Amino acid sequence: METDEILHLPISKIFETYPVALDFFKSFGLEYKDNEQSFLQTIEPLTDDYWELYGTNKEELISTFTDFIIGISNFTAVQKVETLEVIAGVDKSGKHEECSLFLRPGEITCIVGPTGSGKSRLLSDIEWLANTDTPTKRKVLINGKLPDDDFKNSVGGKLVAQITQNMNFVLDLNVYDFLILHAQSRFLDNPEHKVTEVIALANELCGEKFSPDTPLTFLSGGQSRALMIADVACIGQAPIVLIDEIENAGVDKKKALELLVNKEKIVLMATHDPLLILLADQRVIINNGGMSKLLFTSESERKYYHKLEELDSTIQAARQFFRMGGELSCNDD
Ligand SMILES: Nc1ncnc2c1ncn2[C@@H]1O[C@H](COP(=O)(O)OP(=O)(O)OP(=O)(O)O)[C@@H](O)[C@H]1O
Ligand SMILES: [Mg+2]
Repeated sequence: METDEILHLPISKIFETYPVALDFFKSFGLEYKDNEQSFLQTIEPLTDDYWELYGTNKEELISTFTDFIIGISNFTAVQKVETLEVIAGVDKSGKHEECSLFLRPGEITCIVGPTGSGKSRLLSDIEWLANTDTPTKRKVLINGKLPDDDFKNSVGGKLVAQITQNMNFVLDLNVYDFLILHAQSRFLDNPEHKVTEVIALANELCGEKFSPDTPLTFLSGGQSRALMIADVACIGQAPIVLIDEIENAGVDKKKALELLVNKEKIVLMATHDPLLILLADQRVIINNGGMSKLLFTSESERKYYHKLEELDSTIQAARQFFRMGGELSCNDD
């Protein structure tokens, strides 16, 4: 928003876009009879008593207010990512990689390959926005361009959200207070409502439920990841989501993926799980540290998914049976 626009817009419009502006009005004791008046009209009737009381003057208040609104709009601006490209570098033997990656919002891409082949490395290259400065010598392009330092500074930590294998909290806060802080830092409207939604979603993803007043440090690994996935989907605004193996996290992986993809994000996931691989649109195969092949999920593979799903639900049922203390008798085959 331009300075002039901020000063002349009806304040109702400003409150609608940036609800936190209401707090600014409160802290400066600014009163208004009519929501349709502008900021300039609001401060017009202020007298010398007011300026003395608040230790400021008209010019200073105007510039404080415009800086405040511009600061929030920069902070909350969601970086639009139309494309993410990983340009081939070298594998562990220094050989040129066989393929590059081209990703768009709304797509899920799996990273597949043997243990130690370099799946997590590829995720780290993207998070780092590599520019030949990692062991793989890859380049990461956003919207067709190499992000320069200005871009990196301006997007800060807003571009990429990461959900990793080992995720545990060390913060001395309960779940509700932590999420409220996050929602407020994003200047979301009605943060309490958002937080309740995130907790409900996280509880749908994991078996053992937790409550809003559970301390973060009491959450299990699976509960922590479920909370992070729900938080990334509902509060975080990062357009790129990197996931390192959610299958062992004890969360409902299919639901988790649906949640993240509904939000039109680019989702990239390292996995060993055939179900997740077939849920994705495409998969990149990593071999000896290099991207060796890019495959698109075919129609026949999608059909195979349903067979695997049946097998998976048998395994899930057995898991649940043993988790709940079930025992097989010698008559069970
Ligand atoms: N192209 C490369 N050049 C040099 N080193 C690489 C390359 N790719 C991966 N590595 C290194 O190989 C090691 C194993 O890679 P990584 O941890 O990414 O494997 P992974 O596929 O995620 O394994 P896991 O399935 O066990 O999670 C890391 O130290 C990583 O930095
Ligand atoms: Mg790994």
